[in-house]
Amino acid sequence: MADRAAIVTGASSGIGLAVARMLGQEGHAVTMAARRPEKLQAAFEELQGEGLEVQHVAADLGDEAGIQAVVAAHRAAYGRLDVLVNNAGVGIGAPVGEIATKRMDIQINTNLRAIPIFYRETIDLLRAAGAEHRNALVVNTASVAGKRGEAWLSIYSATKFGVVGFTQAMNKELNADGIKSTALCPAFVDTPMTDFVKGQVPPEAMIQTSDIVAAVRMLLALTPGCVIPEIVFDLPGGELGIPSA
Ligand SMILES: NC(=O)c1ccc[n+]([C@@H]2O[C@H](COP(=O)([O-])OP(=O)(O)OC[C@H]3O[C@@H](n4cnc5c(N)ncnc54)[C@H](OP(=O)(O)O)[C@@H]3O)[C@@H](O)[C@H]2O)c1
Repeated sequence: MADRAAIVTGASSGIGLAVARMLGQEGHAVTMAARRPEKLQAAFEELQGEGLEVQHVAADLGDEAGIQAVVAAHRAAYGRLDVLVNNAGVGIGAPVGEIATKRMDIQINTNLRAIPIFYRETIDLLRAAGAEHRNALVVNTASVAGKRGEAWLSIYSATKFGVVGFTQAMNKELNADGIKSTALCPAFVDTPMTDFVKGQVPPEAMIQTSDIVAAVRMLLALTPGCVIPEIVFDLPGGELGIPSA
């Protein structure tokens, strides 16, 4: 049994898969969670094939029961939680007059509502890890759109502002228990999520998942007295670069 354990959501591709791999390499047993079973199975087999200690649970994390299923499987397999990575997310663009309520709900539920539920469902495990080593870590993937509102991505922006705010509140509430939270706020990262814009912004000009991995690796190495509440990853020049027409 691994000495450390982690849950990574949105672990079937992009940032989540890269962070799950790194946590496995750093000696964590990792529960990988994401929505589509076949895609998650392929990602799981990739990491398992590399000799990492992983399991996978497919679930819609916009649904409370899905979150509870992930946490129950993690608890049963590993019995501890040192790192929680709330990374699953979805962005659906629309001008404000055309926002579809269902698409708004999908973004709110996946990007924001899931995060407090994950904290609530795992707080006993996080507190136990915090009591043991004062370095329980929760990483919440927000976005640079959670630092500056983006046109046509207004709901996505609102959810990500919510993630930043909730992360700040968790630090005030849980730092005394040895639980630290960090919101990651990247601009375009070269993942499947940005395929829609790769005609205008070449993938090699984007932030790489290795940059996000390097930041999370750094968070793992911090001493208990150091909290980093958020990290903004910008493109050179500092604008998100979404074309305005
Ligand atoms: N790429 C960027 O430019 C960028 C910038 C800033 C922030 N982010 C944030 O980074 C996070 C990861 O995104 P990514 O760029 O790595 O994109 P990605 O490769 O598309 O990964 C998104 C992950 O979230 C999962 N997911 C989506 N909806 C879900 C749901 N309802 N239940 C469970 N899992 C769900 C996906 O699984 P399925 O594929 O099965 O749905 C997938 O594993 C997101 O929170 C995103 O908002 C990305």
